Amino acid sequence: MGRDVFYITTPIYYANDVPHIGHAYNAVNTDFIARYHRLRGERVFHLTGTDEHGLKVARAAEAQGLTPQAWTDKLEASWREVWERLDVGYDDYIRTTQPRHHAAVAKLLQTVYDNGREDIYLGHYEGQYCVACEAYYDESDLLEGNLCPVHERPVEFFREDNYFFRLSAYADRLIAHYEAHPDAVQPETRRNEVMSLLRGGLQDFSISRTTFDWGVPLPWDETHVTYVWFDALTNYVTAAGYGDDPARFAEVWPATIHSIGKDILRFHAVYWPAMLMAAGVELPTQVWAHGYLTVGGKKMSKTNLTGIHPFQLVDHFGVDSYRYFWLRQISWGSDGDFSWEAMVERHNADLANGLGNLASRVLAMLGSYFDGVVPDVELEGCQDDLPTVIAEAAARYDAHMLAVELQAAVVAVWSIVDRLNGYLVEKEPWKIAKDPERRAELAGVLYAAAESLRILAVLIQPMMPAAAERLWDQLGLEGAAVEQRVPAAVTWGGLPPGTVTHKGDSLFPRLDA
Ligand code: MSP
Repeated sequence: MGRDVFYITTPIYYANDVPHIGHAYNAVNTDFIARYHRLRGERVFHLTGTDEHGLKVARAAEAQGLTPQAWTDKLEASWREVWERLDVGYDDYIRTTQPRHHAAVAKLLQTVYDNGREDIYLGHYEGQYCVACEAYYDESDLLEGNLCPVHERPVEFFREDNYFFRLSAYADRLIAHYEAHPDAVQPETRRNEVMSLLRGGLQDFSISRTTFDWGVPLPWDETHVTYVWFDALTNYVTAAGYGDDPARFAEVWPATIHSIGKDILRFHAVYWPAMLMAAGVELPTQVWAHGYLTVGGKKMSKTNLTGIHPFQLVDHFGVDSYRYFWLRQISWGSDGDFSWEAMVERHNADLANGLGNLASRVLAMLGSYFDGVVPDVELEGCQDDLPTVIAEAAARYDAHMLAVELQAAVVAVWSIVDRLNGYLVEKEPWKIAKDPERRAELAGVLYAAAESLRILAVLIQPMMPAAAERLWDQLGLEGAAVEQRVPAAVTWGGLPPGTVTHKGDSLFPRLDA
């Protein structure tokens, strides 16, 4: 059941505005995980999309003088354009306005409504609502001046008849589930947060709205539309074929990882599993909540000019450096700050002077001493510890990726870059080249260096897919980096003698601070 596929999801992003680097941070990291599992030969299903219903989106559309449908159609294109330029390679793009999703929401709701436990009942709610969060708050959770604790913006008082979901009945079952599956919420700090929420007891939440109509109508009472979070969370089963394609659903569900930001943990680790329990659907394997990005120490927002669009950076750094920066700079799970200086520094140190410089030196030497043709060599005696260092680094990389320790995974790969640099300094092939008697030794050293680059191209593919292809191409290898599979492709000695390499443009041109 459902374990045939590595199913990873991003949250579906609100279609009230265009993406900023905070959203892209989530998407790039998730894409790294998805690509890595593909590199391991797993069947991967990577889902993303847009959350298009609710008051927040309806108001954004109104402000533009458009219908919500016209507005979300327009925004879908802006989101997809960003993912394309960032090499975020999703397998399906879901929009909550799609008919397939309406059908799945109606099916899930009806299943819960009919489960015989009165898990959905009609009630009345009044309270303070944050439209940006699309959530009610207890007075005691608000900041001074009646501000939402997440957005620090004024909440609004709403009073309406709603249907409620009996979340309160699920606290014990959720506690039991998380006790039996300690990895189901990660990292540990987030797990602890969820456990203490659950131990504090849960309140029922309203799952319908009557004050506006931009949403999925309740199947048994069309005067109500579904609460946007109940609607949005359901996207994860919609895309797996829930209620529509049982064979596919059995293959794809449960999701392996829901990758989310820490701000939406409660919805994913409390509401969502309870909804699934109520509908008799298996729970996702893991919710992974990453940290929050700030700019110059401040929350990102348009009003204080910290809402940076990813293109502002990609235009300058290129997509590979952009991706690398986030993966390497901030531990996935911790909060992190963006600064222009840090990004230039990483680019120059790790990419331009690191991997990029290494590749151009090795390819240049192969060009000058062997006309670019990979020599046939007796490797013993000149490869030193490179095969062991690489095998160990690839194993560490794998272990870190499986544990979703993304930064440590990148560091593991860079230990190969460092060792290869050291190797060249020790061997000094440019000196060996001066002595015609040492031709075989020169061939061995350059073969070992080029072979290390080949393996690096495979290993960096999930992080920097475009750079990996450029390197693959410069090495003159057949096929593409994206077609390689580990561990076979990182086994030492895979570079065929006779391969014709060429030193192309530098992989990562140096940037001025
Ligand atoms: N629509 C809901 C999610 C529904 S999922 C069933 C939503 N959308 S969002 O557009 O506001 O946020 C999408 C994701 O972007 C969330 O995981 C959120 O944590 C992430 N980020 C938004 N701003 C961010 C930062 N400044 N830093 C890191 N991630 C951030 O919530």
